[in-house]
Amino acid sequence: MISIIGSGKVGATAAAFLMLGEADKKIVLVDILQGVPQGEALDMNHAAAILGKSVEVIGSNNYEDIKGSDIVIITAGLARKPGMTREELAGKNAEIVAGVAEQVKKYAPNSIVIITTNPLDAMVTVLYKKLGFPRNRVIGFSGVLDSRRMAYYASQYIGVSPASIVPLVLGQHGENMYPVPELSSVYGKSLKDFLTEEQYNKVVKDTIEAGAQITNLRKFSSNWGPAAGLLLMVDAIKKDRKLVVEASVLLDGEYGVKGVFAEVPVVLGKDGAEKIIEVPLSSQQKELFMKSINAIKENLKQVPPQYLA
Ligand code: 2OP
Repeated sequence: MISIIGSGKVGATAAAFLMLGEADKKIVLVDILQGVPQGEALDMNHAAAILGKSVEVIGSNNYEDIKGSDIVIITAGLARKPGMTREELAGKNAEIVAGVAEQVKKYAPNSIVIITTNPLDAMVTVLYKKLGFPRNRVIGFSGVLDSRRMAYYASQYIGVSPASIVPLVLGQHGENMYPVPELSSVYGKSLKDFLTEEQYNKVVKDTIEAGAQITNLRKFSSNWGPAAGLLLMVDAIKKDRKLVVEASVLLDGEYGVKGVFAEVPVVLGKDGAEKIIEVPLSSQQKELFMKSINAIKENLKQVPPQYLA
């Protein structure tokens, strides 16, 4: 059983993707808004019936209904508005995430929890503190999105499928993320060797600005990419695939960093983020990575301290 907290655009789209991918027989969609998760669930059950998917989506206003979940996805929180940074959301969303964490701890204490709420790095930290779960079971979404966005942008110049690119983006999910095309490759050939300097810089810029660009264009933030990424992650965990994707996890000495959530490649399996892959970095790359880590630490200062205790 998989539960999704928040039936807004990201939550509802994720539920639909999980239904289409038959990630589980039962998907529970919880929201405080009366009627909304129930309506979404009913519509999705009709879609499942049309396509012959053996999935039941349940809409609920009651956290008790997440009992028995092996994975909980938290999408609750205010979304970015045009021109708004992820960081500005920090205070309000910390309160929401802390409240949700309390319920997840109560009703799904053995679950693996994935969060999409922005500002991602700060919110996954709040979640970790409030849940008290081991670090392998508290995962920040977004690394899949950032890294595969980079693969998409690079693929446009290279003329190979984005799926043939192994992309590396490190650090923060935000303006200070660190895309690393030179350590991303097509079968071992670095993206740097495929791209002109101008293309390289554009790939980096487009990757960093992707989320804001979507928001500015259509006046609300991404949902299709996040839903696809969540399906990939949930499927890897449910099927114990040992799939390597990027996610924001608590570093405990890896990359020379301790006590900070940051995007890195991780192995996803039945126990969640089972292992961190440490990619060797040059001293200059380490410096850029640390710049991103310092930005995450800076963001945490915008979170009221009671949510980080
Ligand atoms: C994104 O990158 C809004 O963080 C979200 O699309």
